[in-house]
Amino acid sequence: MPTLNIVGAGRLGKTLGRLWQQQGFFQVLSICNRTEQSARAAVKFIGAGSACPSIESMQDADCWLIASGDGQIVTIAEAISARLAAEPAGEPVVFHCSGALSSEILAGCRPAAIASAHPVHSFAAPEDSLRTLPGSSVALEGDKIAVDVLQRAFAALRCETLTIDAGNKSLYHAGSVFACNYLTALMDLSLRTFSAAGIDRQQALELLKPIVLQTAENNMRLGPEKSLTGPIARGDSDTVLAQLEALQKTDAQLAQCYRHLGLACVELARRGALSSDAAARLTGLLSEPSQ
Ligand SMILES: NC(=O)c1ccc[n+]([C@@H]2O[C@H](COP(=O)([O-])OP(=O)(O)OC[C@H]3O[C@@H](n4cnc5c(N)ncnc54)[C@H](OP(=O)(O)O)[C@@H]3O)[C@@H](O)[C@H]2O)c1
Repeated sequence: MPTLNIVGAGRLGKTLGRLWQQQGFFQVLSICNRTEQSARAAVKFIGAGSACPSIESMQDADCWLIASGDGQIVTIAEAISARLAAEPAGEPVVFHCSGALSSEILAGCRPAAIASAHPVHSFAAPEDSLRTLPGSSVALEGDKIAVDVLQRAFAALRCETLTIDAGNKSLYHAGSVFACNYLTALMDLSLRTFSAAGIDRQQALELLKPIVLQTAENNMRLGPEKSLTGPIARGDSDTVLAQLEALQKTDAQLAQCYRHLGLACVELARRGALSSDAAARLTGLLSEPSQ
């Protein structure tokens, strides 16, 4: 069985470590966290490996996972590079799991094969992730040898893998920021607007739950073009104007977000049944007023 070291066995690192150990895909060897106490807790969670006080003291391994926060990856990669140069043992794989950064930040670890593997999954609660990770997708990029190993490693956890270009990593990550982080911001904008209309948070959440879940379901099944309903899809510019004026009187940020997202809706509706005349009228209404 290939061996795995983990630097930064936090929420993601310890979850992957335990799953790979359980599946018999990797034998987990050394774990190094910021503190030894935390590394010992990760060893306990994974059920294998030993806590190390420093990267220099870690054993040789076939694979090195850097699962610290994104801001520490470069410094850790430098320490791994020094560790590998001091006692060369083959050409291992070194990878990180950041969605935002490419494998190129690990270039100092060459001749090791380098890669990044971004699971599209929230590891907020590791105990839950042990159960819910299978079926998630993992975006891979990097050296072929490393990508091949990681394809097999994540297939062993019943994850789907896709390969992306290192040069497109920021765009790739922005894609999930739109759908996941911005969806959360949209929920907040919606709750603030309901609150201004006198509907309390709990009532608003109850009101939203079925329609938000149904909208997500429709988008997955039909795609955005066929899922868009409401005043912009209907070309109802009187309603859009009334809503914009009401928002403007309430909160300038709500009105500004309504304008920006409304323009994206017009573009989407144009790909459906919205006429060019209606689209032009709506675009005029939603564009920023000239100063
Ligand atoms: N969480 C997610 O949902 C998720 C999803 C996809 C990708 N990712 C990516 O996965 C990576 C890890 O994220 P996470 O949420 O699992 O982070 P996390 O829970 O904050 O864990 C980070 C771990 O790194 C350790 N660490 C920090 N600096 C270190 C250093 N200099 N040397 C050794 N260990 C160090 C910390 O040690 P201590 O415990 O001692 O502080 C901690 O155990 C990130 O690149 C993130 O972008 C995360």
